Amino acid sequence: MSIIISFMLLVCLISCTTARDSSREALQVTIGIGNGNLSKGCNDKHHNLPFKLNCKLPTTPLANEVLKFADQRLALVHPIIQKFKSLITSDPLGITQTWVGSDICSYKGFYCDNPPDNKSAIAVASIDFNGFQLSAPSLDGFLDQLPDIALFHANSNNFSGSLSPNIAKLRYLYELDISNNRFSGPFPDAVLNMPGLTFLDIRFNFFTGSVPSQIFTQNLDALFINNNEFMIHLPDNIVNTHIFYLTLANNKFNGPLPRTIFKAFSSLAEVLLLNDQLTGCIPYEIGLLKEAVVFDAGNNQLTGHLPFSLACMENLEQLNFAGNLLFGAVPEVVCELGKLMNLSLSENYFIHVGPMCRILIERGVLDVRNNCIPDLPFQRSVEECANFFAHPRFCPRMWSYNYIPCYHFPSSSSIPEMAPSP
Ligand SMILES: *[C@@H]1O[C@H](CO)[C@@H](O)[C@H](O)[C@H]1NC(C)=O
Ligand SMILES: *[C@@H]1O[C@H](CO)[C@@H](O)[C@H](O)[C@H]1NC(C)=O
Ligand SMILES: *[C@@H]1O[C@H](CO)[C@@H](O)[C@H](O)[C@H]1NC(C)=O
Ligand SMILES: *[C@@H]1O[C@H](CO)[C@@H](O)[C@H](O)[C@H]1NC(C)=O
Repeated sequence: MSIIISFMLLVCLISCTTARDSSREALQVTIGIGNGNLSKGCNDKHHNLPFKLNCKLPTTPLANEVLKFADQRLALVHPIIQKFKSLITSDPLGITQTWVGSDICSYKGFYCDNPPDNKSAIAVASIDFNGFQLSAPSLDGFLDQLPDIALFHANSNNFSGSLSPNIAKLRYLYELDISNNRFSGPFPDAVLNMPGLTFLDIRFNFFTGSVPSQIFTQNLDALFINNNEFMIHLPDNIVNTHIFYLTLANNKFNGPLPRTIFKAFSSLAEVLLLNDQLTGCIPYEIGLLKEAVVFDAGNNQLTGHLPFSLACMENLEQLNFAGNLLFGAVPEVVCELGKLMNLSLSENYFIHVGPMCRILIERGVLDVRNNCIPDLPFQRSVEECANFFAHPRFCPRMWSYNYIPCYHFPSSSSIPEMAPSP
């Protein structure tokens, strides 16, 4: 109880003192605690009402302590930080023991800098709590109350709650990483109103509900939302996106891969769609992901043939379609991709691999175990394969499976939007 009282007192003192000193242009903000007549500032006519009650509490343990802040902006966030500290329920590494006194810039995890709007001021510009293992029921009232914050990294802690809509007020925030925590609730729509945000990492949490499609066209370089409980419907009306890294894996997708997204995501380096519920056939437009280094769509229910257009993904190093319902022949042009280091097609129903692909099998690059390839070891049983092929399986636009869009323009980087007619 005495801690709470002291804390409330502190809030009062800072608030009161700030109000009293607001006319003074002081670089050094000095806040006295328990040094004289408390009620003086608190009874000021212009004083904020909510703190008035607390002002009448008696001083005790903090007597004679004086907090001097290097900048008014630090004085303002001090009570915010101390309040957050009081909400932390577990701190096995003893991080918050360093969160004492007025030198906020030396608190573990806090970094100061000159804010963009005043190069002579000092403010908390960046927070890096990565791996601190702190537990707190919420970041509300903390993150959203740090007006000068530009980077907030708090991965691998035990923070929960949902993200406050008030984070939209954080005009300088451009990197937000709260991955690997216990956040829940809906997608933080507030980020849609943060045009300066370029990096959003909320993967490995318990967020639910839908993901607003506007997020894909926002000015983000990286969007990591994998390993949540989102129900993702990939919209088929995305025309352009700046996103360079996108991970959607381990959520709940519904439906097929829309044909249009591949053109929109043509600058993506990594596409992770594994362990989702993708169904349907793979559109040839996948070959438009010409910058992709990693494409992972393992453990879905994708069916049909592998499109030859994969041959256009010249930077591919890792391609994973293991654990799907793909069949037909593994296209030789895919096995000819020069940078491939891992082509994982196990647990499908392929029936044929040609000589180029067999070289990759020998080199340990291509894995086709548990398919239906008659002359290779470690295949499915004849019965299992027969059962699979007993059902007719069709994909639309069958002609497009042999279509290799980039081959028509060998000396140009442009790729036609439309394939020729069959
Ligand atoms: C404290 O302030 C009150 C009212 O503002 C005043 O009556 C009292 O004399 C002051 N006490 C001291 C010790 O300054
Ligand atoms: C900039 O910050 C300094 C230090 O806090 C302060 O003294 C000065 O008044 C500020 N300037 C403006 C224009 O706000
Ligand atoms: C994380 O927080 C939850 C409650 O949100 C708690 O039950 C759990 O014990 C915490 N885990 C650790 C490692 O602190
Ligand atoms: C190749 O990729 C698959 C799927 O991501 C993975 O399970 C496997 O371990 C990788 N193989 C090698 C040799 O890295």
